[in-house]
Amino acid sequence: MCGIVGYIGKRKAYPILIKGLHRLEYRGYDSAGVALINEAGQLNVYKAKGKVAELEAFCAEKDTCGNIGIAHTRWATHGEPNTVNAHPHYSESERLAIIHNGIIENYAVLKAGLMEQGYTFKSDTDTEVLVQLIEYTQVNRHVDLKTAVQLALQQVIGAYAISILDKTHPDTLIAARKGSPLVVGIGEDEYFLASDATPIVEYTDKVIYIEDEEVVVIHPVTDNPSPVTVTTIGNVQKTPEIKRLELSLSQLEKGGYPHFMLKEIFEQPRTLTDSMRGRVNVRQDNIALSGFIDNKDRFLNAKRIIITACGTSWHAGLIAMYAIEEFAQIPVEVEYSSEFRYRKPVINKDDVVIAISQSGETADTLAAIQLAKEKGAFIFSICNVVGASIPRVSDSGCYTHVGPEIGVASTKAFTAQVTALTMLALCIGREKGTINEEQYLRIVRELGQIPSKIERVLGQDKLIGDFAKIFSYAQNFIYLGRGYNFPVALEGALKLKEISYIHAEGYPAAEMKHGPIALISQEMPVVVVAPHCGTYEKIVSNIQEIKARKGRVIAVVTEGDELVSKIADYCIEVPATEECLTPLLTVIPLQLLAYHIAVVKGCDVDQPRNLAKSVTVE
Ligand code: AGP
Repeated sequence: MCGIVGYIGKRKAYPILIKGLHRLEYRGYDSAGVALINEAGQLNVYKAKGKVAELEAFCAEKDTCGNIGIAHTRWATHGEPNTVNAHPHYSESERLAIIHNGIIENYAVLKAGLMEQGYTFKSDTDTEVLVQLIEYTQVNRHVDLKTAVQLALQQVIGAYAISILDKTHPDTLIAARKGSPLVVGIGEDEYFLASDATPIVEYTDKVIYIEDEEVVVIHPVTDNPSPVTVTTIGNVQKTPEIKRLELSLSQLEKGGYPHFMLKEIFEQPRTLTDSMRGRVNVRQDNIALSGFIDNKDRFLNAKRIIITACGTSWHAGLIAMYAIEEFAQIPVEVEYSSEFRYRKPVINKDDVVIAISQSGETADTLAAIQLAKEKGAFIFSICNVVGASIPRVSDSGCYTHVGPEIGVASTKAFTAQVTALTMLALCIGREKGTINEEQYLRIVRELGQIPSKIERVLGQDKLIGDFAKIFSYAQNFIYLGRGYNFPVALEGALKLKEISYIHAEGYPAAEMKHGPIALISQEMPVVVVAPHCGTYEKIVSNIQEIKARKGRVIAVVTEGDELVSKIADYCIEVPATEECLTPLLTVIPLQLLAYHIAVVKGCDVDQPRNLAKSVTVE
């Protein structure tokens, strides 16, 4: 997820663009850039690696004149975070400059076609392909820039919010979107573009929300009665509707949610869609993970897979153990990185080590990788930050592409990690022939349904908030699950602990009779993750054992459940799905329960005490 800003109007563009980038830094901050057309008609592009402050320092002595410009703060998806890959990107003639938020899935095909026409590329990005395609289209089809943008975008598969400058038309700002947000601000003789309203709200409350596959042209010249025009990429004229902003700046940064954590919980249908984009192809009944495709033999010849991670990422790894052993039939060990790095483990050259880390900077996981590399193991990392330390020292990997996760309590990164690991298990199993084709196809198709099924679970947010009010008194919780949902119980307990400061433990449900059942009392709520799956009848018995001892049970069940719903005190329903995919649905109520209890208790949800978003020290 990146941030884009544009300006054209009566004032100098640069200060407005830089301030706008600062407002959007929560969307991504591994590099930034700005493009300006000055009074002499020069198109100046300045870019810097790192946060927006680095760009400001770089531009301090530069020509930043001009009343039209575009700017970008990057969250890398294609290509390392560096100045070459930073946006804006010039076209080959350096007449155009573009910024882009999104992922162009078919960029490789488009790039190959342009290279055949003699085009060359400086960066590894999909964005540079787009600006070259627009220039190629304009030159070869002899059309104006707006038409070239429309025609080029008709060839694009994927998501985009773009803005483009043409130094030969310094009075025109063009933008378009599909799948990534784009807002136009209407000021007094000045116009703004941005990924959301946060860079706009201090200048005007009049905005136009651009819809998918729409192109907006801002051309505020004196004799133009319609300075802002909107068409589809098929050039169908649209009537833009001007709306009034009602949210404050702080509310806007959180997307209107009170906390980043709640915003990120509710983002999960979109972020999982982004995470699967270009990888899960339901139409072709196929999963394509480049990190696996390029290293098939390492996985097919692996005698063992070691998963190393910390915290929530470790819980994702535990779920992966069930999936990899079920579908790929490779023995899996899941290690806490902090233990693995010191216990002198036996590591063999034909081992595959999967390192999972949202931040890509967790010190213990980094050290565990170093240890495994020294022993000759193959390192595959699952990470959310392109170019972070862990992916840089890994042999290969898979990015989760969920955008910056600001809340310290990991939510959207967790479901993306589980999705990536499930895709990996399915790819290995299909290649080895250890998963039957019918089951493979069923799961692939069901993966495509998960985002909409998560939407349905999120629809119970109010019910879960009511439960939170009932149980926020508790000093202790127990979370129980079996099979794929045992790690979900651990994750639910961690969510509650880290943001509400209530003690909570996760257990395999069958373990209760080996000691913990002695704890059961009315004062200690028991959360049981009990979707319809292979061990459903067993977990019903576990719930009955708890109820027999006057325990109070909150159960997460499959829609239409008729057994647990009769014995548990409170039920939260999730849609039916494949057993291996149930964690993607059953974790959502636990994220919301922890969030609402923490809010009822007045805790600092986004920045809980004693915690950091990335534990870069031992
Ligand atoms: C999860 O909610 C916590 N913030 C924490 O356990 C986190 O998962 C752990 O520190 C690992 O971080 P990483 O995924 O960035 O490596």
